[in-house]
Amino acid sequence: MEPTTFIMFGATGDLAKRKIYPALYNLYVDGKLPQAFTLFGLGRREWTDESFRINVEQSLHQFSRRGAKDAESVKAFVRAFRYSVLDIGREDDYRKLLKLVEGRENELSIPSNRLFYLSVGPEYFETIAANIQASGLGSANGWKRLVIEKPFGHDLRSARDLNRKLSQAFAEEEIYRIDHYLGKPVVQRMESLQQTNPVMQALWTNRYISNVQITALESVGVEERAGYYDHVGAVRDMFQNHMLQLLMMTAIHLPHDSSSEKVRFKKKKVMESLELVQKEDVGASVIRGQYSEGSIQGKPVVGYASEPGIAPSSMNDTFIAARLLIDNNDWRGVPFYIRTGKRMKEKSTKIVVEFKEPVKQPWMKIEEGIEPNLLVIEIGPEESITLQINTKEPGPNGGRFKPIRIDLQAGQADSPEAYENLIGDALNGDSTFFAHWDEVELSWQWVQPILDAFEENLVPLLPYEAGTYGPAASDALLAKDGNHWWFDA
Ligand code: BG6
Repeated sequence: MEPTTFIMFGATGDLAKRKIYPALYNLYVDGKLPQAFTLFGLGRREWTDESFRINVEQSLHQFSRRGAKDAESVKAFVRAFRYSVLDIGREDDYRKLLKLVEGRENELSIPSNRLFYLSVGPEYFETIAANIQASGLGSANGWKRLVIEKPFGHDLRSARDLNRKLSQAFAEEEIYRIDHYLGKPVVQRMESLQQTNPVMQALWTNRYISNVQITALESVGVEERAGYYDHVGAVRDMFQNHMLQLLMMTAIHLPHDSSSEKVRFKKKKVMESLELVQKEDVGASVIRGQYSEGSIQGKPVVGYASEPGIAPSSMNDTFIAARLLIDNNDWRGVPFYIRTGKRMKEKSTKIVVEFKEPVKQPWMKIEEGIEPNLLVIEIGPEESITLQINTKEPGPNGGRFKPIRIDLQAGQADSPEAYENLIGDALNGDSTFFAHWDEVELSWQWVQPILDAFEENLVPLLPYEAGTYGPAASDALLAKDGNHWWFDA
C-alpha cells in the first residue's frame, strides 16, 4: 500500500470520533493501512498531539467494533496521529501545516501522497479547497485525493456551484464523495450477485421482474439535529443520495466488467433513463409525510412539530415515498418504489425484487399459498440476501403450496462497517463505491421538481402516526398498480 499522509479537517468532531477513527483502527488491525501512515488532525480547539491521541483512544474504546481491547495496538496506532490548530479561513495556517507535512514526509522519505478528508460542513468546502491550492499543500509530487461527506449541495444549482468551486482545486478523479450506503457490505456484494450468477443475470429484466421496492425505514426521530434536518427533510437527507444510489446499484447490469469506470458509467446511464417528472405532476407519483405523535415499541413519542427546535408550523417532510420509472429496454414498465422515513415502526433497509407471477395453471389455486418469487436484499440492521420460492408440501391430494426462503448469502457476524470499506478504498485509489459528479448532478436534476413542488405546496403534507409505516397514501401508490409493500408487519 502506498505511503499516505491523511489530513483530517474536523478532527475534533463527532463523525471523526464515531466513524472515522474507529474505521481507521479496524483497517490498521486488519493490516489494511499503509506502513507509512500519518494523520494530521486539524481543528479550532487548542489541543496538543497528546490530548488528541487520548481523544482518539477514547473514541476507539467507545465506537470500534473491535473494542480496542489490545492496549499495545491502540498505542502503536495513535502514534501516527498529530494535531494542529487550524483556522479554515487563514491561508497562513495552511502554510504552517505544509511545513509540518513536508517535514514528516522527509523524515519518512516518502512521496507526498496526501488524502484530504473534509469532515466539516459543506459551507467550508470551497474555502478549504481554495486554501489547499493556494498554500501549496495540493501540489503533491505523489497523488492527492479529496474525500467529502454529504450534503453535496442543497439543490441542483448549489450542487453545481459547489462542484465548480471544488474542481478548481481537484480533478474529478481526485474527488471521493462519500455516500455511506455504498460502503455497506451487502450493497458492495450486489454486483457480484449478478456477475457470478448467470441465473440472476438472465432474470434481471422487465421480462421477469414485476416491480422493485427500496425501503429505508428508521424508528428514530429528528434526534438532536433539528437545525440541520428541518432544512433538508427526508428528500434531501436520504432520497437524493442514499435511495437513488440504491436504485442505481439495483438497476445496473454488470455481466463482465466491474471496473470503477464501468460501474459509474452504467449508473449514470440508469440515471439518464429515469423518467423526469414535471413539477405539476409530482403529486401523482410522490407522497410526502410528517410524523405526528404515536408510540415506538410501546413508548410514547411526540410529533415532529413538537420536537425541540422545530417550529410548530414546520412543513418539513420526514417521510417520502415515490414511484419511479426507468425508460430503457431492460426496465421499461417496471415500477421502482422507494420509501424512506423517520419514526417508522422499525429500523429496516432492504430491497425487494418481486418477480412476475407464474403462469397460472388451472390446477394452481392462489389460495393454496403460491406467492411471487422475491429476491430480498437486507442491507441493515441485519444483512442477508434471500430468494423466496414456492414449494409444495407432501400430503394427501398433492399437498399445499408453501413459499420458502433460500439463503443466498447470509450476513457475516463481524462484517466491516461502511466507513471502513470506503476509507480503505479511498486509500487505495478505488473510486467504484463513491458518487461520481455525473450521478450527483443527475440525482439533483431528478429531485429538483420534487423540491419545487414541496416548496410551492403542490403536494399535500400528510400526517402519519409515529410507529407506523407512513401515510396510507404510500400503500395506495402501489395499490394503483396492483402491488403492495412487502413485509410490513
Ligand atoms: C444519514 C442521514 O445520511 O443516514 C441520517 O443523515 C440517517 O438522517 C442515516 O439517520 C441513516 O443511516 P443508516 O446507516 O443508519 O441507515
